[in-house]
Amino acid sequence: MSQNQVIIFDTTLRDGEQSPGASMTKDEKLRIARALEKLRVDVIEAGFAIASPGDFEAVKLIADTIQDSIICSLSRAVDADIDRAAEALAGANAGRIHTFIATSAIHMQHKLRLPPDQVVEQAVRAVKRARNLCADVEFSCEDAGRSEIDFLCRIIEAAIDAGARTINIPDTVGYAIPHQFADTIGQIIQRVPNADKAIFSVHCHNDLGLAVANSLAAVTAGARQVECTINGLGERAGNAALEEIVMAIKTRKDLLDVHTRIETENILAASRLVSGITGFPVQPNKAIVGANAFAHESGIHQDGVIKHRETYEIMSAQSVGWHTNKLSLGKLSGRNAFRSRLEELGIELSGEALNAAFARFKQLADRKHEIFDEDLQALVTDTLTEVEEHIRLIHLEVTSCMGQVPVASVQLNVDGKEQTARAEGSGPVDATFKAIEQLIGSAASLQLYSVNAITQGTDSQGEVTVRLEKAGRIVNGNGADTDIVVASAKAYINALNLMREGAYRAHPQTAGV
Ligand code: KIV
Ligand code: ZN
Repeated sequence: MSQNQVIIFDTTLRDGEQSPGASMTKDEKLRIARALEKLRVDVIEAGFAIASPGDFEAVKLIADTIQDSIICSLSRAVDADIDRAAEALAGANAGRIHTFIATSAIHMQHKLRLPPDQVVEQAVRAVKRARNLCADVEFSCEDAGRSEIDFLCRIIEAAIDAGARTINIPDTVGYAIPHQFADTIGQIIQRVPNADKAIFSVHCHNDLGLAVANSLAAVTAGARQVECTINGLGERAGNAALEEIVMAIKTRKDLLDVHTRIETENILAASRLVSGITGFPVQPNKAIVGANAFAHESGIHQDGVIKHRETYEIMSAQSVGWHTNKLSLGKLSGRNAFRSRLEELGIELSGEALNAAFARFKQLADRKHEIFDEDLQALVTDTLTEVEEHIRLIHLEVTSCMGQVPVASVQLNVDGKEQTARAEGSGPVDATFKAIEQLIGSAASLQLYSVNAITQGTDSQGEVTVRLEKAGRIVNGNGADTDIVVASAKAYINALNLMREGAYRAHPQTAGV
């Protein structure tokens, strides 16, 4: 690997999933992992294997499937976590164990309740144990952004001696300021005697809106791995956005003199996939992937761009995947064309799953003239739910007329029995959810309801996300249809089915060691 390559470590599936409400199913995680592999992300942090059986299964599935990226599992600096991570990664083409312990005075004193000497001892023990199970070990100093530099140098030297080959310096609480963070990274690399045996990495949170700026400042000081997420998803205000880091490096190569291996044309597809699955919409003015990122409104700007694109554009829309949404298939397309287009999108289906998806495609093609790649992605999400359908939508009829109260009648199959209900609501969606609730009585509270048009035009499918909460557990249900009330009903029912399957997940940073 060249000295000037910046390793892109994506943690959408781990830190991104720590965004309140962003939980993903195993199948959804695999689809995102495939999109990350297609982007040519170097390292995919697939999860925190010990968090729950579901997390373990997801890390294992991704490790067993993905070939071109290193697959990583997070683990606290404790034996059980490390062993579980190694077990999940056993089938990986290239696996990495990422172990961490907090190093700031405030965390050591109040969270870990351990003296600094014991923290070093525990870090060394964890790295050694991980190295016995996996050749590629990363060590992180949690809350490094608020840790004393002398202590950081001491624990990092010990971790490298114990076998860590990547040292990650996280700004866990998003406290750093770019020039100061660059100075810290530069000092560490200079002062740690065995620094040449490791690659230095940064992991910045966005509490002050500086995650990307801090990451790039660290690169100028010698960091050669950046941890980031698609759309900047992540705990609290999120992590550094992958698309912004990568495009800043590409666009300002003159200044930064580094490169990544990312295939930037695949950025937009990955962004849309993550946004659709998590139900976190991308704001229109978001850099690179927002709907307005390449829109020129003012006449002077439009005129300039028509005459010479570079007058107002520092990168091309095509270079990040805009305007490449292909007209995929139509009503007359056959099964083989359908299957091979899905394969090109990284979705492999066979047998019953292919039959079900193809049947849904034909239904959609009857209602929608042109079918785009985005429609196919939504159709697959909608059809291939790995969740058991305890509740299934059979029929929905809604009357909504200006000045009158909307009424919804639903027919559901609940655990094999068909049942119907009718309810009024403040709008057609409200009436539909109330009718479903009459039959199910989940007592869950609706935390989020969002609708996004998948493609352009009024015949676009609407993709709905419904987030439900019950007793502290949050699930996201998704549904897509050209009728947004039907899509809403599907999303609500998907969330109810997910809730029934519920499992407990541990959080890496709330539990001590
Ligand atoms: O923010 C953080 O410190 C983390 C570590 C576990 C790397 O996510
Ligand atoms: Zn983090």
